[in-house]
Amino acid sequence: MATADAETDAPVPALHGRAQRCAARLREADSVLLASHIDADGLTSAAVASRALERAGLQFETLFSKQLDEAEVARIAATDYDTVLFTDFGSGQLDVIARHEAAGDFTPVIADHHQPADADTEYHLNPLLEGIDGAAELSGAGAAYVLARALEGDGDNRDLAKLAVVGAVGDMQDTDGGLRGANEGIVADGVAAGVLAEETDLALYGRQTRPLPKLLEYASEARIPGISNDEAGAIEFLSGLDLPLKDGDGDWRRWVDLDGDERQQVASALIRRAVASGVPSDRIDGLVGTTYVLTDETPGTELRDVSEFSTLLNATARYERADVGLAVCLGDRGGALDRARTLLRNHRRNLSEGLQWVKTEGVTAEENVQWFDAESRIRETIVGIVAGMAVGASGVSRSKPIVAFADKNDDEVKVSARGSGHLVRDGLDLSAVMREASRAVGGDGGGHDVAAGATIPRGERDAFIEAADELVGEQLE
Ligand code: C5P
Ligand code: C5P
Ligand code: ZN
Repeated sequence: MATADAETDAPVPALHGRAQRCAARLREADSVLLASHIDADGLTSAAVASRALERAGLQFETLFSKQLDEAEVARIAATDYDTVLFTDFGSGQLDVIARHEAAGDFTPVIADHHQPADADTEYHLNPLLEGIDGAAELSGAGAAYVLARALEGDGDNRDLAKLAVVGAVGDMQDTDGGLRGANEGIVADGVAAGVLAEETDLALYGRQTRPLPKLLEYASEARIPGISNDEAGAIEFLSGLDLPLKDGDGDWRRWVDLDGDERQQVASALIRRAVASGVPSDRIDGLVGTTYVLTDETPGTELRDVSEFSTLLNATARYERADVGLAVCLGDRGGALDRARTLLRNHRRNLSEGLQWVKTEGVTAEENVQWFDAESRIRETIVGIVAGMAVGASGVSRSKPIVAFADKNDDEVKVSARGSGHLVRDGLDLSAVMREASRAVGGDGGGHDVAAGATIPRGERDAFIEAADELVGEQLE
């Protein structure tokens, strides 16, 4: 009876048994190494896991890694922890990890949402193993949260739901107007714990920190003629409305500064303009959606809005400063936050320059995929983000997946691929494409159906493109 109650109470009931098993193993560990990925989801995963381990009274050290390949797992195996908790990666490298486990190097506990490699292990918490979509319904931080709830040391760990929601949004699991499926159980926990609020609001990036004209001008996802990508147009549109645009100091107001009636006025006018300009109805519907606010963060800061928070985290870990992002997740609002904001300015500049470069150079269209090779012009840790942002820009089609290359080091090239929900429904699985095409040329890769990546030897780019083009063609046949 007790178990049945615990299961109904679990944020993701289907994963309850696996979470219990993983938690029990961690409680028995002598020493734990927590290993996580260097993006927003990886950082929040590590933050959730480290708080939960700490509250359970377990000793651990934390390590971040760009990519868990053979060499990285071997490095981990060479340390002397008896238990390694992998978050936001591990499943995709299960074959490699299982070999080390068999050799007695360490016991792996995995909380991940990537497509598992062909192997299994006893302590494995992954939504895909229970028929839950790992690309759309649960992130690495979500899996770590499910584990944290099962570990419950001091308190019930429900406050950590806010970080799990930042991870899910960082992995773009809210693109369908809000979080869905298993993620909803986590949102409900966060709301119940009083750390999260769900609101129906304008679905544009930058509601907390961007001046109103910038909010509209940069709203590339909306693409409203005369407003998106048009600074003067955005200001003119706002000036035609009946609300003050600047505050007492003469600074532009932000969305967060508007009251309910003012927000309603802007949103309605935007929708009217979009309709009048012939914007397709699905894009108009997309202007409003469910948004998530972290209620204990200061209004008007990057931390208040989950989407802006996740960008701030990407600005740290993707530039070798995961320590800064982790500290912010764990509540450091002093030096770490200042440092993260400086890194954010640099990250934004890199994204904008990278995107500009892709727009200028254009992409090469093959039969089934389109691609660009940024070489050393875009950092390999952000080339996937730039590829995703480029989709829909002039010359970049929405009907083919985009494959991006960037130099990793003297011997290797990083590949990032991005698709769309539409293509996935038609059969696209970029995880399989990246894995098979990279293995065919002596590399390795994996990920999700809609977003995946690989590392290949330098000089194999064209052979890789040919293989990927053929695989995508077969999937979409
Ligand atoms: O390793 P991880 O799962 O955390 O990374 C997922 C990556 O896939 C993120 O960079 C995320 O932005 C990207 N993604 C995407 N579109 C989706 C889902 C994920 O670009 N619909
Ligand atoms: O690096 P990028 O953002 O393109 O990664 C997209 C997704 O593919 C992420 O979930 C990442 O963990 C995964 N990936 C992988 N193996 C690689 C590279 C990326 O599983 N070699
Ligand atoms: Zn993830």
